[in-house]
Amino acid sequence: MSNSAFHFLLLFLTLFLHLTIVFSWKKEEFRNCNQTPFCKQARSRKPGYCSLIATDISVVDGNVNAKLIPKTSDQDSNPLILTLSVYQDGILRLKIDEDPNLNPPKKRFEVPDVIVPEFETKKLWLQRVSTEVIGGDSEPSSVVYLGDGFEGVIRADPFEIFVREKGGKRILSLNSHGLFDFEQLRVKKEEDDWEENFRGHTDTRPYGPQSISFDVSFYESEFVYGIPEHATRLALKPTRGPGIDHSEPYRLFNLDVFEYLHESPFGLYGSVPFMLAHGKSRGTSGFFWLNAAEMQIDVLGAGWDADSGISLPSDQARIDTLWMSEAGVVDAFFFIGPGPKDVARQYTSVTGMPAMPQHFAVAYHQCRWNYRDEEDVELVDSKFDEFDIPYDVLWLDIEHTDGKRYFTWDKVLFPNPEEMQKKLSAKGRHMVTIVDPHIKRDDSYYIHREATQKGYYVKDAKGNDYDGWCWPGSSSYLDMLSPEVRDWWGEKFSLQNYVGSTPSLYIWNDMNEPSVFNGPEVTMPRDALHYGGVEHRELHNAYGYYFHMATSNGLVKRGNGQDRPFVLSRAIFPGTQRYGAVWTGDNTADWDQLRASVSMVLTLGLTGISFSGADVGGFFGNPEPELLVRWYQLGAYYPFFRAHAHHDTKRREPWLFGERNTEIMKDAIRMRYILLPYFYTLFREANTTGVPVMRPLWMEFPYDEATFSNDEAFMVGKSLLVQGIFTEKAKSVNVYMPGEQAWYDLRTGITYKGASNHKLGVSEESIPAFQRAGTIIPRKDRLRRSSTQMVNDPYTLVIALNSSKSAEGELYIDDGKSFEFEQGAYIHRRFVFSDGKLTSINIAPGASGKSQFLSNCIVERIILLGHSSGSKSALIEPANLKVDVELGPLWLRGSKGPLVPTIRRPNVRIADDWSVKIL
Ligand SMILES: *[C@@H]1O[C@H](CO)[C@@H](O)[C@H](O)[C@H]1NC(C)=O
Ligand SMILES: *[C@@H]1O[C@H](CO)[C@@H](O)[C@H](O)[C@H]1NC(C)=O
Repeated sequence: MSNSAFHFLLLFLTLFLHLTIVFSWKKEEFRNCNQTPFCKQARSRKPGYCSLIATDISVVDGNVNAKLIPKTSDQDSNPLILTLSVYQDGILRLKIDEDPNLNPPKKRFEVPDVIVPEFETKKLWLQRVSTEVIGGDSEPSSVVYLGDGFEGVIRADPFEIFVREKGGKRILSLNSHGLFDFEQLRVKKEEDDWEENFRGHTDTRPYGPQSISFDVSFYESEFVYGIPEHATRLALKPTRGPGIDHSEPYRLFNLDVFEYLHESPFGLYGSVPFMLAHGKSRGTSGFFWLNAAEMQIDVLGAGWDADSGISLPSDQARIDTLWMSEAGVVDAFFFIGPGPKDVARQYTSVTGMPAMPQHFAVAYHQCRWNYRDEEDVELVDSKFDEFDIPYDVLWLDIEHTDGKRYFTWDKVLFPNPEEMQKKLSAKGRHMVTIVDPHIKRDDSYYIHREATQKGYYVKDAKGNDYDGWCWPGSSSYLDMLSPEVRDWWGEKFSLQNYVGSTPSLYIWNDMNEPSVFNGPEVTMPRDALHYGGVEHRELHNAYGYYFHMATSNGLVKRGNGQDRPFVLSRAIFPGTQRYGAVWTGDNTADWDQLRASVSMVLTLGLTGISFSGADVGGFFGNPEPELLVRWYQLGAYYPFFRAHAHHDTKRREPWLFGERNTEIMKDAIRMRYILLPYFYTLFREANTTGVPVMRPLWMEFPYDEATFSNDEAFMVGKSLLVQGIFTEKAKSVNVYMPGEQAWYDLRTGITYKGASNHKLGVSEESIPAFQRAGTIIPRKDRLRRSSTQMVNDPYTLVIALNSSKSAEGELYIDDGKSFEFEQGAYIHRRFVFSDGKLTSINIAPGASGKSQFLSNCIVERIILLGHSSGSKSALIEPANLKVDVELGPLWLRGSKGPLVPTIRRPNVRIADDWSVKIL
């Protein structure tokens, strides 16, 4: 076949594949638990199955070591080695592995480069263990100190690990139901048949079964959350137990699922084996298992263990879970909280704080598969200006390349890529191009040539370069586990190497699960081999993470360490938050998926991955204008705000649906731009504390049970509550507003009572959003083309007073681009309003002279919500200037509510200390 005929066929095949698969998620393409031996087996075990006991407990190098051996000596398995260590802030770490001194056939894989180096410096050097006899145990248990008021316990027989309040109530435990199992590697015997087959694919499994499973219990908990990525509810439903039939466990296996269902425990593009539990009486706890193999997790419904004879404290509400993994080791972390934000901090102290993005990346992104050519790009760009709609980034999907060879440009469609980027850049805009991990097997393609010569590809089970089918056709996959390959890959992003790129170009990593069209479950065979002889099965869930890391580090290098990278990734793993943004993959234009996006983005945030969003409009299908409009209104509050659409969908840029819809979508996008100072401040909060930008209500109101399973509303920071509208032609919506304090409608300033449900009328114009009483939100109200053009614009401060006539808020500003902020080059202010006086206080620790960040921006308006309108003037200090307090609109354009007390042009500088006293 000639090359072009071949390409035609390929194009035809891909189109065909898409058209047929688009509206029918093929369940049978993916394994379920029953088709997965380790899962089926672990699920069939009964409580009390485990016969291990802990012996030889000793303190070595500041850790507690023990051996796990079978209680009855007639079994011939080797002892397992257990290591328990304690870290600052109430973190207990448990490792269990085979004994390296007994020469197991292979070293089991431990995931490198996820735990941040600083974490080791937080280790508390244990000196001793104390002992205690629990219940009628024949052996004493060992107790270690775990920070103020907490303890970790190794119970010897039956073997169990738990964390408790000193001498008292349990918080978390492992193996309390005796479901721990660890399949040790062994040499293959003649009668062993280790091969596994699935839909015509054979997994040779040369090392045989090596799975690990155990139960984990969360005490004083009413709900569990986390373990993305699934399109499920925020509060995870039980998957087994009385009254639950045929439910699959939550699967963690990174997969390219063509069209995912909106309520399903099946695995999607990413995996973070971190679960949080929350309850009213004690608060929050967390459990994290660092393991990159396929994992399955059951949430066990109350009563699942009836008649098992297991007795656990009956005065503590409890949620039990079962964790199963195909390979790897036990490397598990217990977090004691007790608040939700404490758990966020504890988890990110292990896996890293979210990176601080560039300012432009926090604004609105316009994407489509595909903007056809340079004229199309220019046209779309100019339409945004024509309609006065701000946007910051224009994206190019795979079709911009020369035959899906990344780092190249289609010479006909994109003959002058540098000029194209420069035109955007002149308006303060940026471009993003896609770069995927599958490399076209084409000898004339330099990346393929070099990767082949250097041996940089993942190998198949026979040791040849693995060859799979993806967008370019026959493709090989770079072995990103190797630091050398990652460095080499990073170099490809330099401006010299990436021909046609400019400094305003950033990157999108798609298909990095990795997606392999003709592979088992649309991914790479489990017996493929990586750097160091690691099998793909051991590494699978982290493959995309290493690719994201390599790309992100490449961009840092391109900018000589002066330029924060921006890389969007589809695959995720613990630690992804350090390398860039993620999105929830190929969703569909329907109302259920709009609703699911809230749970999905909230869940990602709970597991450290704060910078995330769903495709606005839905990737597959054509949204009705009403759905598209609602999606813009909601998406404007996602941390990552991007519109995207499939190849076969109709064009849907915001001006294509009539004047009125254009106005409403523009209004939604503008809301995001106006709130950028607030969002950017929240990104910095995430960067220093691990607390996500978009939060479940219970993260801010941990004692209010009515919030625990609410996934239709969410908080942006601590000051803003947003309620989604997920039905067609909605006329009203119930909004629960937590807390004792009132809420101010963001658009009208009208107040609503806290701790109550409100049935509110809704119009198509906006979705409900409220500012919490007692907060101050900084805004920038002027309409610009892009966020970069807002840098020098003045601020508006919206003060929402609470019942004690007080409020507080923060503002963080830096150059929005470089790493100088890490040397203290930023402005961080706290605004406090109390006793009728607004004060701006510096909370930055003070930069050294060289790396100061300066801003001449001023405050142009101060709005006082909840202040009596009697005041006529205010005194500004230290300027000693008297200004008027007048009644003014809450919004410069189209303000809907009553006039509110406003101070116009106080003209104080945002960087200075000042106060404004209302007289
Ligand atoms: C914040 O973001 C920067 C830039 O991405 C990163 O280098 C740093 O590690 C992050 N965390 C903290 C605590 O600064
Ligand atoms: C009102 O808000 C201030 C600032 O956020 C806070 O310190 C105070 O406790 C709040 N008052 C009440 C009664 O909640």
